[in-house]
Amino acid sequence: MIKDLPDYLAYLEKRNRLLRVQGNVSADLEITAFTDRANREKRYESKSLFFTSVDGYDIPVVTNLFGSTNTLRELFQGSYATEILGNMHAFKSQRKAPSLLKGAKMFMSAKPKAVPSQLSKYRKLKDLGDLPILKVWPNDAGRFITLPLVITESPRDGTVNVGIYRMQVFDNTLTGMHWQSQKGGAIHASEAKELGKTLNVAVAVGTDPYNIVSAITPLPIGMNEFSFSGVIRGSSTVLMKNGKYPAVPANSEIVINGWVNPSETRMEGPFGDHTGYYSIPEKYPVFHIDAIYAKKKPIYSASVVGFPWHEDAVIGQFLFDFLKPALKSMNESITDIYLPPEGIFTNMCFVSIKKRFPGEAKKAMFSVLGMGQLSFTKIIAVFDDDINIRDLSQVMWALATRIDPQRDVQIIQDATADSLDHTTDMPAFGSKMLIDATKKTREEGYKREWPATIGLPKDLVKEVERKWESLRK
Ligand SMILES: Cc1cc2nc3c(=O)[nH]c(=O)nc-3n(C[C@H](O)[C@H](O)[C@H](O)COP(=O)(O)O)c2cc1C
Repeated sequence: MIKDLPDYLAYLEKRNRLLRVQGNVSADLEITAFTDRANREKRYESKSLFFTSVDGYDIPVVTNLFGSTNTLRELFQGSYATEILGNMHAFKSQRKAPSLLKGAKMFMSAKPKAVPSQLSKYRKLKDLGDLPILKVWPNDAGRFITLPLVITESPRDGTVNVGIYRMQVFDNTLTGMHWQSQKGGAIHASEAKELGKTLNVAVAVGTDPYNIVSAITPLPIGMNEFSFSGVIRGSSTVLMKNGKYPAVPANSEIVINGWVNPSETRMEGPFGDHTGYYSIPEKYPVFHIDAIYAKKKPIYSASVVGFPWHEDAVIGQFLFDFLKPALKSMNESITDIYLPPEGIFTNMCFVSIKKRFPGEAKKAMFSVLGMGQLSFTKIIAVFDDDINIRDLSQVMWALATRIDPQRDVQIIQDATADSLDHTTDMPAFGSKMLIDATKKTREEGYKREWPATIGLPKDLVKEVERKWESLRK
């Protein structure tokens, strides 16, 4: 078990997945340039970077904490997280029921544990000026905290939410709070607005990897991310409550306490986002900072995203594959589902199905669009299961040879959209393109005989393969 961020860095270093960048670097673009370089080294397996000396600050910086799929796999290994998320799937077979039961027990026992505030052991910082907050890209509107765990409590029922939402530094005690309107933090803010209250918010920068990954995972709204991190870790998350603010992990490197007035907004951005573009400035809530605390020797953690490829691609791919059972359990015809990183995750989704009845491709599309954060998806293409949807050349071939656009491409207007999509006329509201690239059947109105796909008998191919190998010797 990894107990905190320094322990995680030691874990990475032992496995040769951490690069120490010695010598002075600037928080102004230079850390981005190093991280960008690390991400071009090896897709899915890039190193985390530890900047020991940052110009003008006495706090080191770490980036690219999740550049390695192997690390993510190891963090989740042996946990019952999969059973819990894919619980409907597990219920289908009695063979799986015992593991579901174990998962449920684990979830109950992973309830967060409260300890008294440890902040007396922390040092109180003057303001945000003490933190090595990055200016990530040249045309960003300023400096942004890019990996904060933003913790809120529902003013209605006390439910906890943890999400990573970037925070633009407006001045040393004021930041933006870029929670998209569909996200947990924004929902708590809208509840506060209805009740005419302000919302106390706690922010943890730097904690153990289980808490960070859990905050990123698109869990159903209302599910406590600190319970889920307990499941991944295999033991309860230890939280400390500090006065009126939501409890933060007791192993936080940096704690920022403050509040949001849900009626107050300010222009946020531009910010170089994971779409590969600068986001269009929009109005977002602001976060008023009451106090900042840091461990005696804290480490500041940041994420750098931009034109693909960066760590968000690694995290997104891993978490999505991990969540797949939940989706498959609701739509058993789905054989695979893939969000190509170049499609920015929210903009493109490929699904393969084993079609058994007319219109089943549509059923698959609608179930994707109705599922949590997948509702942001802009373009969905559904294929038969003979297409490997992770192989772009097979995808292109099927798109070229299995659709008649007037029949198989449909546009759905006025739907919810990702607020990062600059192509829509209005923020977070746009259209969808549904592409049915499955082979059409007579029941679906196709009046001709769908031609067979060319191929050789499998035995013959195998036989020639064997002969071929001997020819090469
Ligand atoms: C590095 C990074 C930055 C992110 N920035 C934002 C952001 O600014 N706004 C946002 O709404 N989501 C952002 N996300 C995605 C959310 O953290 C993610 O959707 C999460 O599931 C939200 O949790 P929630 O459903 O509890 O709100 C970011 C994710 C990562 C990995």
